[in-house]
Amino acid sequence: MSEETRASERTSTGSDAASTDEDRGDPTDIGGDRTDRPKPLPVIGNLHQITGDPLGFFDAARGHDLLPYRMFTDQCYVVVHPEGVQTVLVDGDDAYHKGEMMQRQIGSLLGDGIFLAEGDDWQRQRSTMQPAFYRERITGYADAMTENAATMADGWTDGEIVDVADAASELTLAVLADTLLGIDPGSERDVVARAADAIAARYDSRRVGAFLPEWIPSPTNRRYRRSLVDLRRTIDRIIDDRRTAIEDERYSGTDLLSMLIAATADGSMDDETLRDNVVTFLFAGHETTALGLTYALHSLATEPDEQATVRDAIAEFGDPATDPDGAAAPDALPAVDRVVDETLRLYPPVHVFFREPARSVDLLDTRVPAGTVLALSPWTCHRDPRWWDDPESFRPDRWTTSKGEGRDRGSAPKSSRPEYAYFPFGGGPRHCIGMRFALLELRLTLAVVLSRYRFSPVTETLSFAPSATLQPDGPVRLRVDADAL
Ligand code: HEM
Repeated sequence: MSEETRASERTSTGSDAASTDEDRGDPTDIGGDRTDRPKPLPVIGNLHQITGDPLGFFDAARGHDLLPYRMFTDQCYVVVHPEGVQTVLVDGDDAYHKGEMMQRQIGSLLGDGIFLAEGDDWQRQRSTMQPAFYRERITGYADAMTENAATMADGWTDGEIVDVADAASELTLAVLADTLLGIDPGSERDVVARAADAIAARYDSRRVGAFLPEWIPSPTNRRYRRSLVDLRRTIDRIIDDRRTAIEDERYSGTDLLSMLIAATADGSMDDETLRDNVVTFLFAGHETTALGLTYALHSLATEPDEQATVRDAIAEFGDPATDPDGAAAPDALPAVDRVVDETLRLYPPVHVFFREPARSVDLLDTRVPAGTVLALSPWTCHRDPRWWDDPESFRPDRWTTSKGEGRDRGSAPKSSRPEYAYFPFGGGPRHCIGMRFALLELRLTLAVVLSRYRFSPVTETLSFAPSATLQPDGPVRLRVDADAL
């Protein structure tokens, strides 16, 4: 399809054709047809709509291509059309970077670690860490993943009501500690859980405070800062212990933590960046997967037919805990993978993330000045009726069609649907480094728990407290009935 045809098929919201070079750069001019756009107020812009209903704000962007909004004085767009998402993440080369807004928002949490690093520094960090995420290494984590899942499931009793959000969070932290960090999570669990709660509260998008600087001495910010001090102290101790163990030749493992420590030894990473990276992995690698697991189990609990289908498929395979390597093979459990893919479509744990053009760019026929905030929202795109039939329904079978064959996990099926209508793990060079790790952990954990229990809902309907991730607004309670396959 030619560029022109594609451009004319998109819903035009751009003002570019009629605009002059001067007004293109004016951050207060959002241009185009304004009738169905969220109306900004003086000073605060669209803040009131975002805090009033963060997901509703992103719901309303559906059907647009590029939707302008304003946060205080920051000119922003939601990039809704998958072609725009692809341009920003994949094809835009070095024109787009994480930018100032991301730094302002989460810089104090993730510091100079891989998530916010740019340019050569990012490239160096990514190359250092990549070996921990090679396909063979990930498969090697299958034992630890199934063992931890079995321990969690064995701790439940027939008929018990379980808060799966809590259980999933404890599990994924244990798996991360066991595999990538090589530590015992036991003693650190409380400090990490306290920090995770404080972070979720600090960035809760329903609070105006989430968009204000963290030095404002509100109780939420004070709790956040205290919890980070505790967390960093704990991480420093973990790093010191490991360094001593390596020096004393008591530890010869090659996990991610050892790789990062080796990078400080050869001078390619400083101590502060090492610590920032441990913080990054503790949160990027544990909360996200826990949310995926929580929403998959809730979806299956509320859709008993889907649950029966996937349990039948697991029964055919056998108990994954007795054959973790077999269960980790690429096409071992496609029915479970479909549940995972559908869950990450409907409830993307990273529901929105951001970029900024480093220089003035043309994006979806609109001139976007340097420094404009671009919101990429899997939540919006994954439920856009232009690309998805019956988008609000949980339908794992939508991933079964022949069109779905041959796709890479984590991307949309190869059909007429644009690839970037689905991007739960981002895309391009900055795509999630932990994607394969997360997909395997979700597959194995679901297979282990579903081979032992049937789930039914106590929390009937999900509600959300969107923060840096798509947090549930309270516990997600399910009843577990022992029903071994
Ligand atoms: C279902 C689970 C997960 C989801 C939905 C998810 C989602 C994402 C997304 C959307 C990004 C891109 C952010 C951006 O471009 O600004 C990302 C980046 C990242 N993720 Fe994940 N993630 C998951 C699990 C994990 C795991 C298990 C780990 C580590 C063990 C991890 C570590 C990271 C890191 C370090 C980055 C930054 C990569 C870079 O900039 O080079 N994530 N993730």
